[in-house]
Amino acid sequence: MRRGTRLLRSVRTRLAFWHTGVLALVLVAFTAFTWAYLQRLTQDRVDRSLAEAVRSFHQAVITEARANRNPDEAAKDAAREFRFSGRRVLVYGAYHSLVAVSDSSSDDLTQAISAIDRADDSPIHPLFAALAPGRSAYATIRNGHDLIRSYATSVRVADQEFTIVALQVGQVERTVLGNFMQAVLVAIPLALVLAGVGGYFLARRSFAAVVDMGRRASSIDSESLDARLAVRHTGDEMDELASVFNDMLSRLERSFVQQRQFMADASHELRTPIASLRAEASVALSQSRTTAEYERSLVHMRDEARRLSAIVDDLFTLARLDAADGALERHEFFLEELLLESVSRIRPLATDRGIALTFHPTVEARCCGDPLLIDRIVTNLLDNAIKYGSPGNAVLVELETSRGCHVVRVSDDGTGIPADAQARVFDRFFRADAARTRTAATGGAGLGLSIAWRIARAHGGDLTLTSSGEKGTVFTLTLPAIPAASASVA
Ligand SMILES: Nc1ncnc2c1ncn2[C@@H]1O[C@H](COP(=O)(O)OP(=O)(O)O)[C@@H](O)[C@H]1O
Ligand SMILES: [Mg+2]
Repeated sequence: MRRGTRLLRSVRTRLAFWHTGVLALVLVAFTAFTWAYLQRLTQDRVDRSLAEAVRSFHQAVITEARANRNPDEAAKDAAREFRFSGRRVLVYGAYHSLVAVSDSSSDDLTQAISAIDRADDSPIHPLFAALAPGRSAYATIRNGHDLIRSYATSVRVADQEFTIVALQVGQVERTVLGNFMQAVLVAIPLALVLAGVGGYFLARRSFAAVVDMGRRASSIDSESLDARLAVRHTGDEMDELASVFNDMLSRLERSFVQQRQFMADASHELRTPIASLRAEASVALSQSRTTAEYERSLVHMRDEARRLSAIVDDLFTLARLDAADGALERHEFFLEELLLESVSRIRPLATDRGIALTFHPTVEARCCGDPLLIDRIVTNLLDNAIKYGSPGNAVLVELETSRGCHVVRVSDDGTGIPADAQARVFDRFFRADAARTRTAATGGAGLGLSIAWRIARAHGGDLTLTSSGEKGTVFTLTLPAIPAASASVA
């Protein structure tokens, strides 16, 4: 039990782990996607506004140039008047010489990028490298720890070449992304902890029913097979499990009860002849008797011993059939021959009782199985038909083959089996009229039909009570036939 709970606990933990792990994967993937998307969006916005800044600056330079004709001066004037928060514009002339800088406070950035004409490793170099004459280009340039987005375009103002460069210097966009990342870094672990704890408790709740079932099941043994697991009627899988388990318990209980009943019946059945033997012997020995008296006693004792050995034999056969469960000695034989033999063996008994026993084989019926056991079925059916019939009656045996089966019908015109007993004739130790049959000389122990049924089933066939009433009783035995093709090969 404790092991069971430990196992469940680990299932719960594993479930919680899996649950959290999957959620973590989803969240990370989602964050990565959102991050990429946001970055892309931000960059597009920055790029557009840089291009816009360059365009309007270019316009301003053209306007200035018209006013004072010197393009360099025009660029410087335009730069002085350039107001674009977070953007800076630089104008380069021939040979990458810096002509003008907007908002020209000489900060680190300005110094770094204005060194383009002096150093090859100037941070703005990649931008110029990407710029084809007469075209424009974007580049991300590095200045210390900062990444700066830049846009450059070559323009011509009054026959003079200029390269206008716009830089995004403000940190606005970076801050948006940074905030997003900060929020995500707090939110994801929090969500994972919540999901993990929540998942664990959810799993614990769901498995509580299983733990409870385990506890109850562990206390059930052969003495308490009538106990059942609680079904909560929630219609969920746990309920289904409990029902399945309860059904299994019911089946076990039934077979246990049957087993016990069988033991009780068997010992009861054996006790009667043994008691009779002992009594007979005691009476015979109590005083000296004549030879005729001894003889009578011995005959009685022999009959009782026969009865006893017949019961023991039946019990043994049943036990063997139960144990073998399909593993029979099988060989091929002809069913009509077997029936002929059985009928002729029993005919004297029928004749004795004034009963006509008839069998006319018309077909050849190949069968596979244990002929001794099949003979036992037939003998039992004939024995019953004769035993429970009245003198002057007739017993008919018929054999036919249809749909891959041999069908043997044994019918008599006796008084039949009482309706309320018909369902139980195949039960072990069942006798429709126990008082009458037990005292009768031929009375069996009520095992005959149950053995016959068991044998038929073990051969893949069946034995049924087809009809029983005032006009008589019909039992039908079905056995699988050997297909003609394989029969001819054999
Ligand atoms: N042909 C039959 N006609 C009337 N009753 C029958 C017939 N066959 C079986 N029965 C009833 O079914 C009971 C069970 O039969 P069986 O198992 O062969 O036990 P047994 O013959 O030892 O009594 C019999 O006791 C009898 O009452
Ligand atoms: Mg019988």
